[in-house]
Amino acid sequence: MQKSLSIYQFKENETIASIGASSGVWEIWFASQVENLTFYLQDIDEQNCNEEEIAYGVKYYENLLQKPISGKFIPIIGTPHQTNLPSDTFDKVLIINSLHEFQFPLFILRDIQRILRKEGTLFIEEQLANFQGEIHEGCGKRLFTQHELIDLLQKSGFQLKETFPKHSNVWIFKF
Ligand SMILES: C[S@@+](CC[C@H](N)C(=O)[O-])C[C@H]1O[C@@H](n2cnc3c(N)ncnc32)[C@H](O)[C@@H]1O
Repeated sequence: MQKSLSIYQFKENETIASIGASSGVWEIWFASQVENLTFYLQDIDEQNCNEEEIAYGVKYYENLLQKPISGKFIPIIGTPHQTNLPSDTFDKVLIINSLHEFQFPLFILRDIQRILRKEGTLFIEEQLANFQGEIHEGCGKRLFTQHELIDLLQKSGFQLKETFPKHSNVWIFKF
């Protein structure tokens, strides 16, 4: 998490969307490290992405770190085709461990073009395939090779700015 935080470079008062955020475990921790962040936690799964689960996570980290967390967290439920997030709103959009689970990634990525501010940044944190067609052990979905991922993002109108290796074939891509 510390390594991701150093790459995402959050600034106080930023507004960030996380797509496929589930209950926002990562984002709540990020908000414990930088003041006054607003996170829209977006997912298609209402069972995990809801006020109650998020409040549980906030309490967990506040107890663990023995300090209040100043961030705001807004759960938003999307569909396989669209994020349902507001247009021209976000300084940063994150997709953490989720891109390979999207049924229609091209639709979601094009929708992210709509919700990002003009100077906004998209970060994708993703385990890559070691060979074409490799299946993710955890979820049974197909992983992207680096070439496939960058190609998909270019088709969605994003230009790659930087790549950061994390660990065991997990990378962060900045667009
Ligand atoms: C492996 S989980 C990652 C959760 C979290 N980001 C993390 O790293 O702990 C992938 C998430 O993507 C969500 N997801 C799948 N398709 C989606 C879509 N089209 N739009 C938004 N979220 C989606 C799933 O419901 C699931 O919560």
